[in-house]
Amino acid sequence: MFNKDITERFKGIETPFYYYDTDVLRKTLDACRDASVKHGFHVHYAMKANFNPKVIDMVQSYGFGADCVSGNEVKAAIEHGFDKGKVVFAGVGKSDKEINMALDADIFCFNVESVQELEIINDLAAAKNKTAGIAIRINPNVDAHTHHFITTGLDENKFGINTWQLNDVADMLRKCANLHFLGIHFHIGSQITDMEVYKSLCIRINEMQDWFENHGFPVKILNTGGGLGVDYHHPDTNGIADFESYFEVFSKFLHVKPGQEVHFELGRALVAQSAALISRVLYVKNGLKRNFLILDAGMTELMRPMLYQAYHEIENLTRNESTEQTIKYDVVGPICESTDCFRKDVDLPQSYRGDLIAVRTAGAYGEVMASGYNLRDHAMSVYSQ
Ligand code: LLP
Repeated sequence: MFNKDITERFKGIETPFYYYDTDVLRKTLDACRDASVKHGFHVHYAMKANFNPKVIDMVQSYGFGADCVSGNEVKAAIEHGFDKGKVVFAGVGKSDKEINMALDADIFCFNVESVQELEIINDLAAAKNKTAGIAIRINPNVDAHTHHFITTGLDENKFGINTWQLNDVADMLRKCANLHFLGIHFHIGSQITDMEVYKSLCIRINEMQDWFENHGFPVKILNTGGGLGVDYHHPDTNGIADFESYFEVFSKFLHVKPGQEVHFELGRALVAQSAALISRVLYVKNGLKRNFLILDAGMTELMRPMLYQAYHEIENLTRNESTEQTIKYDVVGPICESTDCFRKDVDLPQSYRGDLIAVRTAGAYGEVMASGYNLRDHAMSVYSQ
């Protein structure tokens, strides 16, 4: 992503900013498309990971669908040219306004997360004399072995419908004339790198589809959710997520019947490596116990390290890491919170005011989770081309 000329290119650009390498994004999208097409799988892009307009335009150009979690995401997906027949709407708390908007847009499917929501969508669809395509999001109680803040498929999580409620779902579905049951949906968590987890998920999906079929509901769509993780430690040497192994697991363990479609909702794996947060060193503060590198970017630009103790590679683009002596720095932001720290004890070459610092693998859940706390400006986006 970064060669020697990059600091020259960044000269004069106000920091902090998100730098998007469109080449990395293209290579990642190519890899995902090639690996999924092989198995006839359908990929929906989880818009929440990054809705930078240039990023979604590129993703859309690959013909992927869109997985949305708000009315505004549905709207953005359609405005950016995603086929409405490939737009799905998930989320535990869809408002009436959002449901009505998605009904008006004739999206493909609502991923429904509670029995009560089934009734509400049915009533709102009936009022418009429409039929809503729905899939039931099931909480499969499968441990994703990821950070507990980004685990979603356990009984204690708020997401999806627990299996002990499936009889209520079936009763409600029989009552709802304005719902068209399409299939079942799962999403057990994010940043999952252990493929065994997906094997366990496949086993649960197979059981669940049998349950629905046995209760008189033919399952057309098996939506496995997203979650494929990326390598935050080696963004250059291992930059493309392992799409091959991921799809291979589903191809091997999922019982796909004739006429069924398998859908995936990938966010992070598609966009994470395509961006870095670029900032400058404002001050170097050598304390008695620690050395601080104070950047002009902080938790307002990239919240992941502070929220999930997430690891991101940090590089000084101005100094040559391989030849210079390294010093341990706590790399912190300017925000008035002690938690505003990207990482402690980062080995970096001796750094100076004005040096450019890259926080890597920031393309997913970076810019989209930025906040205006401390009345900060919104960081710009810069593209490689
Ligand atoms: N489908 C559903 C229903 C989801 O809730 C999510 C993400 C995805 C798909 C896409 O998951 P992915 O492929 O990106 O793992 N902010 C956190 C991650 C939150 C993920 C929320 N749901 C982070 O920065 O790690």
